[in-house]
Amino acid sequence: MKKIQIAPSLLAADFARLKDEIQKVEAGGADMLHVDVMDGHFVPNLAIGLGTVESIRKITKLPLDLHLMIMTPEKFALDFADAGADSITFHAEAVAQDYARKYKDRGYSMQLVCKDFYDRKRLDATIDAIRRKGKKAAVAINPDTDAEVLEFIDRVDMVLAMTVWPGFGGQKFIESVVPKVAKLRKMSATIDIEVDGGVDLESVGKAVAAGANVLVAGTSVFHAPDPAAALRRLREKAEASHGV
Ligand code: DX5
Ligand code: ZN
Repeated sequence: MKKIQIAPSLLAADFARLKDEIQKVEAGGADMLHVDVMDGHFVPNLAIGLGTVESIRKITKLPLDLHLMIMTPEKFALDFADAGADSITFHAEAVAQDYARKYKDRGYSMQLVCKDFYDRKRLDATIDAIRRKGKKAAVAINPDTDAEVLEFIDRVDMVLAMTVWPGFGGQKFIESVVPKVAKLRKMSATIDIEVDGGVDLESVGKAVAAGANVLVAGTSVFHAPDPAAALRRLREKAEASHGV
C-alpha cells in the first residue's frame, strides 16, 4: 500500500504572509507543497509564475509538487525544474491534438475522436524535459477524461485525478471521479495517485478508499483557523480510510 502524503495547496494561502503560511503546514507535518501554475488559456485563471516558485524554494525544504495547468508544458518544464520543482505534473489534455480537445465549462475536456489523439512530439518533449532534470514526472486528467487515455502510465511516477474542474480553489469535490481513482489503482498498484480539488474531512476517505495516496488540500487546510491542526486531522482521516 502506498504511503499517504499530504500536499497543502498554496493557492489558498495568504501570499502576503507566505512564509508564515508555509511554516504552519510544516508544523502540521505536510509532506510537500502543491504549487498551482495557471496560464489563462488551459484554465480561465492566472496563478504562480517562475519567480514565485524560486522565492518559495528559498524559504522551505519541503518538496515542491508543481501542477502545470498550462497549454505548453513542453516549453516550461525545464524552467520550472530549475526554479526548484521536485515533481512536475502536466495535463494530458494539454498535449493532445487540437481536434481531440473540446472546451467545456471552465476547463478543457478531452474528447476521444480517434485512436492517436496525442501530439506525440509534445508529450515526449514534456516527459523528456522533466526526466532530464531528474524530477518526478506526473500526468493530470480532468474530471471527465477517462483513465484509459493514460496508455503511457508506465512512463510517469504519479497520476493526478482532478476532483474539480481546474482553475479555482474552494470548489466542491466531484464524487463521480472516485470510480476513476479505483480504475487507476487497478491499472497500477505502485504508482502514486493524487487527488486535487475539494479534498476535506468529508471527501478524503472516499478518495483514499478508492486508492488515492497523495492528497492535495487548499481551502480545507489554509482557510481553517489552525492549518497545522486541520492538516493533522486530514491525515488521521486519510490513514483511517487507507485500505478500506
Ligand atoms: C485547482 C487547483 C487546486 C486547488 C485546490 O485548479 O489545482 O490545487 O488549489 O483547492 P481546494 O483544496 O480549495 O479545492
Ligand atoms: Zn492543483
